[in-house]
Amino acid sequence: MTISMPAERIVILTGAGLSAESGLGTFRDKDGLWTRYDLNEVATPEGFARNPALVHEFYNARRTNCLEAQPNPAHEALARLQRAWPERVTLITQNVDDLLERAGALEVIHMHGELTRALCAACGHRWDAPRQMDPQAPCPACGRAATRPDIVWFGEYPYHMEAIDTALRAADLFVAIGTSGNVYPAAGFVQEAATSGARTLELNLEPSATASLFDAARFGPASQIVPHWVAELLE
Ligand code: OAD
Repeated sequence: MTISMPAERIVILTGAGLSAESGLGTFRDKDGLWTRYDLNEVATPEGFARNPALVHEFYNARRTNCLEAQPNPAHEALARLQRAWPERVTLITQNVDDLLERAGALEVIHMHGELTRALCAACGHRWDAPRQMDPQAPCPACGRAATRPDIVWFGEYPYHMEAIDTALRAADLFVAIGTSGNVYPAAGFVQEAATSGARTLELNLEPSATASLFDAARFGPASQIVPHWVAELLE
């Protein structure tokens, strides 16, 4: 299979491995966030109901990390690819950081929400998150103290699924980058795209849980293999 031929429609799914070399932790690797924090306490609606201060503390720390981090060559390469072919490249990310945007990407679908946004759990209003969010802060729209990070937690439905399904069905090439293939629905996108006729490529540090479902793979640090792949496409 030729994976370097420009495809008509390229759908790219990214995960925490894309931002690992920018200094943002991944979740399931050795020393990953879920080895140090209980995801049931900090990434579920039930955990938030039990202890909103703890959940805000967790995401405040992640927001600070994100603000201090810089895009790496993999973010820059994907942004370059989308800017070169804006009509043909769909960027979907499970990441809640804004490093693709800061690298110059034109449009990023954040299926798991964004650290830079706040959401009122009472009325659904969204606004730009301050650097430190406070559980007592009133919603600017309804005034209730139900502020939460605009992050999709376990047990909640990911954002933009209709647009994602449409993109996957139309894809000629589906590429997953830096994701372990453990979290659905994202882990099922490779099958969805393949069923619709797309070729599939995994770019990761090591084979993911869904590696056997891809037509081809390249393994290595994202900052090296992604710019290389993008350069081949744009040649
Ligand atoms: P994981 O932490 O599960 O997986 C990270 C993947 O990146 C692994 O396959 C690593 O091998 C790979 N990786 C690590 N360093 C890399 C590097 N430098 N270059 C390339 N790849 C590298 O993260 P995700 O798959 O993104 O959801 O996790 C999916 C979701 O689970 C997250 O969005 C988050 C988490 O719980 C929520 O919080 C809702």
